[in-house]
Amino acid sequence: MNRRTIRDLSEAALAGKRVLVRVDYNVPLSDGEVSDDARIRATLPTLRYLTEHDACVVVVSHLGRPKGKWVDSMSLHPAAERLRELLEVPVQFVSDIVGSDARAAASALRGGDVLVLENVRFLPGEETNDPHLAEDLAGLGVVYVNDAFGAAHRAHASTVGVAEHMKGEGKPAVAGLLMEAELRFLGGALESPERPFIAILGGAKISGKIDVIENLLPRVDLLLIGGAMANTFFRAMGLNTGASLVEEERVDMARELLERAGDKLLLPVDCVVAEEASEEVTTRSVGRDEVPDGWKILDIGPTSVTRFREALEGARTVVWNGPLGMFELQPFAGGTAGVARAVAEITRTGATTILGGGDTAAAVDQAGLVDRITHVSTGGGASLEFLEGRVLPGVAVLDEKEA
Ligand code: 3PG
Repeated sequence: MNRRTIRDLSEAALAGKRVLVRVDYNVPLSDGEVSDDARIRATLPTLRYLTEHDACVVVVSHLGRPKGKWVDSMSLHPAAERLRELLEVPVQFVSDIVGSDARAAASALRGGDVLVLENVRFLPGEETNDPHLAEDLAGLGVVYVNDAFGAAHRAHASTVGVAEHMKGEGKPAVAGLLMEAELRFLGGALESPERPFIAILGGAKISGKIDVIENLLPRVDLLLIGGAMANTFFRAMGLNTGASLVEEERVDMARELLERAGDKLLLPVDCVVAEEASEEVTTRSVGRDEVPDGWKILDIGPTSVTRFREALEGARTVVWNGPLGMFELQPFAGGTAGVARAVAEITRTGATTILGGGDTAAAVDQAGLVDRITHVSTGGGASLEFLEGRVLPGVAVLDEKEA
């Protein structure tokens, strides 16, 4: 998807102009403070570019799912505070979105200033993509920038309606630098990967990943599958899965996929099992055909880690979505950490490695390796939908680059 970006705008289009920037500051909060600021940091290149070009920046985002109601615990104020610490330019916050306070604060901005609006999902029109809200948001700027890859799969007023409205008025609607990077890395892997191209898929359920598997299978050289979703494949192979999570209604589909994928699909050969998922529990590493009755598969085993490592050697492009075990619990974090080390290692030797956001990023971060990955997507659901091959409405609406 070739979209115009802020770099395609002239100096005159930015200097002293009000620029409305949609970001995804849907960040975790703890005791009223941002506990993981990765999504805020990821927008700094765009915000710095705009302030350095003397734009008057108005930032709009959602946080959580307040469902059109004012919910104090979902205020964007802590995110604005964190942004102020990181950005080192004046950052104001206004407890309003499109009302008179917000309009007045936006009008008073000077070139290089930043204003953060309150959570746009406090307004019921956001999720319904209400045209009146889109028009009100459009009134806050003369340029629209979408840097919220994480929310680009939502056709909401602040991601789609406002862009359509501004384009209708002949105003630019362009991608920010984070959005550009996400599309370049994820899009590049899907469209023109350097080979061998290997995908790693994990997570609990095959049902949530089926469209990703379908879209990736013809594109990749190898697909490694771990996490609880591998259990459904084990069942399709006629193996005993003990008390493990299995999606019974997907077993036939898993069988069909196994036949179709042939050698392209690599499953774990052993697993870490326990009687229950907890920190203080006796674990065993067993072959995948030795899972005891009543025990649960909670991680891939050491032989599988070795096999996955060997498979990854020499890969030039890797896309990874979904942890390979229940990494939140220490006894079941080893498989994901072992494969993360292999992915970090091939990154060092020049491979392009890409993590889908959410849990995968958290798991690799826990292993202390997130800085050694080429690109960590800020999108959870958005990166999944992108890997499914879907067009994201928040991207599709942006101005196309001229050929
Ligand atoms: C995310 O965290 O994946 C995005 O911010 C989207 O949030 P949503 O699923 O509530 O739309």
